[in-house]
Amino acid sequence: MSNTSRRAWLMQAAALGLGAGFVSPRLASAATLEPSWPMDLGPFYPVEKPLESDADLTRLDGHAKRAQGQVVELTGRILAHDGTPVPRAKIEIWQANSFGRYHHHGDGHDTIQPDPDFQGYALQEADDQGRFRFLTVKPGAYPAGSFMRSPHVHFDVQGRYTRLVTQMYYPNEPLLGQDKVLKHDLFGHTNPMPANIFGALTPGGSTLEPGAALCRFDIVLGDG
Ligand SMILES: [Fe+2]
Repeated sequence: MSNTSRRAWLMQAAALGLGAGFVSPRLASAATLEPSWPMDLGPFYPVEKPLESDADLTRLDGHAKRAQGQVVELTGRILAHDGTPVPRAKIEIWQANSFGRYHHHGDGHDTIQPDPDFQGYALQEADDQGRFRFLTVKPGAYPAGSFMRSPHVHFDVQGRYTRLVTQMYYPNEPLLGQDKVLKHDLFGHTNPMPANIFGALTPGGSTLEPGAALCRFDIVLGDG
């Protein structure tokens, strides 16, 4: 590039704000967050939806009793990898009840107690800041052939450009080390388990309900 063309290019770049000292707001917040793990839907995705899908999984209309188990406020944010929130992301969650059984006709664990007062599923939209909040119970562990699934919640999240199916695991659980589903993700990665599959659990920390636990879990979609 000649000096004349370079000078012209620099002037154009300056007019466009591309010169030294200019950092776009998007690049300034380019935090490079690790995208959440892609995991499969698993066998118990509720293709047949329950009657209710609101954010409180612990109560059902017309039921005198509440779901059994430890109540948990499950909250977090949907983020793009640069740290910006993904507003209005669609969030589905589903999980086993506190005994370890799903509302799914394919869950044939007849020795595990069903809980007819547990919703088991929710479909909500994140707010303008990408935040979500559910009230649920801690899921029980359940058998999967030769091993046990450690307590977890399934997520299916649709942002503006990205859809991600993932799972959140409860931390410090004794069954984590033998849960073979955690040995591999869809890309064949192996242990050690990444930190971003675990919720951050605070017993008694709920702001929604006295005595309930608070579990925080942010989900990072690639492009948001
Ligand atoms: Fe599961």
